[in-house]
Amino acid sequence: MKYKKDKILRQPLSNRIVHWVTAGSILMLIITGLGQMPLYGRYLLWQPFGTKWLTSYEITLWVHYFFAIVLTFIMFYHLVYHIIKKEFHIWPKKGDIKGSYEIIKAMILRKKEPPSDKYLPEQRLAYAFFAFGIGIAMVSGFFKIIKNMHGVQASNELLLWGAQLHNLGTVLITMGVFMHLAAFIVKANRKLLPGMFSGFVDKEYVKERHSNWYNELEQELEQEIKLKNEKQAQ
Ligand code: HEM
Ligand code: HEM
Repeated sequence: MKYKKDKILRQPLSNRIVHWVTAGSILMLIITGLGQMPLYGRYLLWQPFGTKWLTSYEITLWVHYFFAIVLTFIMFYHLVYHIIKKEFHIWPKKGDIKGSYEIIKAMILRKKEPPSDKYLPEQRLAYAFFAFGIGIAMVSGFFKIIKNMHGVQASNELLLWGAQLHNLGTVLITMGVFMHLAAFIVKANRKLLPGMFSGFVDKEYVKERHSNWYNELEQELEQEIKLKNEKQAQ
């Protein structure tokens, strides 16, 4: 069901599962990754309850591997799912940098924003930024496994680039998460929050801010009604 009283389905269950599994696994990968450095248990005068496992290199490595598999699986699922369904709403478009500038300018000057699609141009850019960071961390992560394999001697270049790129990916993703959460400080963006929990957002909000998407949905609905009527008439 795409519509409820005064609400529109923005994030179907599949999108919500992908979002929260990605967010959860990334959080765990950052926490356990820092454990490989190894960071925890070094300067602590007391051990916070339930965090002893973080000081074990073995455990954090296996937990890191576990969430690396979860993340890899969910990324493949996300790509295959949207490619099959031909859904590319969040894919960056030409002119998104200018579009983001126009929207931020309108917000600051309290003017009317230009009409937007399902996602604002800056959301499409945020997606690309996350995809780039996650891509770098994933590819370099798989190369870093070589270093931990018995009987395999990784070259110095592989060790160096594996570590540099993996760390770069981590920094980019961490920055992305901070910027992503900071976006919700802006009141207008908070209307999107219920979408990632219940799936539904306010109809008036969509009509006002994502008017191109709203028109698209209206056309789809008209088409569905027309087809239904034609079937009934037969
Ligand atoms: C590692 C943590 C996270 C990652 C990697 C992540 C990633 C993403 C990405 C790529 C998008 C789509 C692009 C965008 O709208 O910017 C998105 C959407 C969204 N995220 Fe997150 N997210 C994370 C954590 C969170 C958290 C903690 C919240 C809640 C406070 C949240 C709330 C949302 C909402 C509401 C949307 C939907 C926006 C819409 O419907 O247009 N995210 N997230
Ligand atoms: C969001 C994704 C990820 C983040 C944020 C992350 C973060 C980190 C960090 C901070 C380190 C410690 C720095 C270092 O040793 O260079 C690390 C180490 C490592 N990560 Fe990741 N990682 C991610 C994904 C992956 C993936 C997908 C794999 C592939 C299986 C992976 C495999 C490894 C390995 C093998 C190590 C080295 C462990 C060791 O030193 O023996 N990581 N990760």
